[in-house]
Amino acid sequence: MQKQKILIIGGGGREHAIGWKISQSERCEELYFAPGNGGTASLGTNVDIKATDIEALIEFVKKEKIDLTLAIPDDPLALGIVDEFQKKGLRIFGPSKNAAQLEASKAFSKNFMAMHNLPTAKFEIFTDYELAKKYLENHSLPVVVKVSGLALGKGVFICESLEEANLAIENILVKKTFGDAGSEIVIEEFLIGPEISTHAFTDGLHYSVFPTSGDHKRIGEGDTSPNTGGMGTIAPLPFVSGELLKNIEDEIIAPTLKGMREDGNTFSGVVYPGLMLTSSGPKILEYNARFGDPETQTYMRLLDTDLLDIVDACIDGTLDKVQINWKKLSACTIVLASGGYPDKYEKGKVIKGIEEAEQQEGIIAFHAGTKNDDDGNLITNGGRVLGVAAVGDTLEEALASAYKAVEEISFEGMYYRKDIGKKALAIRG
Ligand code: AMP
Ligand code: GLY
Repeated sequence: MQKQKILIIGGGGREHAIGWKISQSERCEELYFAPGNGGTASLGTNVDIKATDIEALIEFVKKEKIDLTLAIPDDPLALGIVDEFQKKGLRIFGPSKNAAQLEASKAFSKNFMAMHNLPTAKFEIFTDYELAKKYLENHSLPVVVKVSGLALGKGVFICESLEEANLAIENILVKKTFGDAGSEIVIEEFLIGPEISTHAFTDGLHYSVFPTSGDHKRIGEGDTSPNTGGMGTIAPLPFVSGELLKNIEDEIIAPTLKGMREDGNTFSGVVYPGLMLTSSGPKILEYNARFGDPETQTYMRLLDTDLLDIVDACIDGTLDKVQINWKKLSACTIVLASGGYPDKYEKGKVIKGIEEAEQQEGIIAFHAGTKNDDDGNLITNGGRVLGVAAVGDTLEEALASAYKAVEEISFEGMYYRKDIGKKALAIRG
């Protein structure tokens, strides 16, 4: 068995969870994170290189003789990190720049869905403000306006009135509030239904779907605005039947990967379509070309198979040879955020109680915005600070156990939603 030196690119809770899982592989010799966080520092070595500094990452990988790199966040993928590594003969997990457009350009992904008859909201694409304004005049309300490029989850506007929609397109197309990411916009139909996250590992040809999961994107309880990077996740969703998941696999996952192959943009890595379960069936809200955050913190608690085996198979085109198993348990992650997030918040608050929380059975606190200061204290260093992940025989048990552990943890201004999973349990009834 060949032991591997592995670099994980990124520094969020998702990367801590992936590192935690990879570190359990017998084939993992040494782990590096770029840039990592206070939690990844206990699994391996944090390297002070930005996730988007591809040149510096390549130099590091060559110097340290890294065997395998996992490109996790959206921005290095959109910049073409996978292509650049491959050009240098370096082994890397993730989709190519062309394939990553599925997430990096909503205009690309909507055109792709239309061309391959994939179910999605009716839409039009605009670069011209006047044309967009005219189109809005006859659109039903609410109407959805989306920035085409990457916008840290902040580029979607659900507009209840024509005035609101006009303001959104003016801000994006005329005032350029999103810069180049907003040089193109998508205007689309408003969809109604429960929102779910689906993920699949793929080597381009073969794929394997994860259990479904549910994020909680809004900051406020009861899903009140504004949007965040995600305040908590649960999996598997208690209201998605095996039959529905099979339907999603056949109608969405398989044709998406086939379409990408046909278009010469073969997708390898993790594809994550966000779906709305509408009264006329599941529809694609958006594609992500990567693992979700904080979905991954929950998923890593359920994945039974060695993640390194899966990653290798995705790169080598042998995913059909790997049996991927998920624990027959439920899991959840509760995100603990800095007071004020997703708007302005302070950093540098001392975090207490993680050890006590992790002494409780089945609890792991994945770090996101944390770092160790010069005095050896763990301090807050971002909006989303920790993701407390728990498993249980049922979703209710997992949630109860996660919330009990959360009570042990404290830092000044700490905020979390107390209703993670509540809606999903109500839908199941
Ligand atoms: P996205 O970045 O495309 O996932 O959009 C962010 C959030 O906006 C989604 O998670 C949905 O809750 C909401 N959203 C996006 N598109 C639509 C749509 N067509 N109809 C209703 N809600 C939407
Ligand atoms: N969970 C939301 C995202 O990863 O985009």
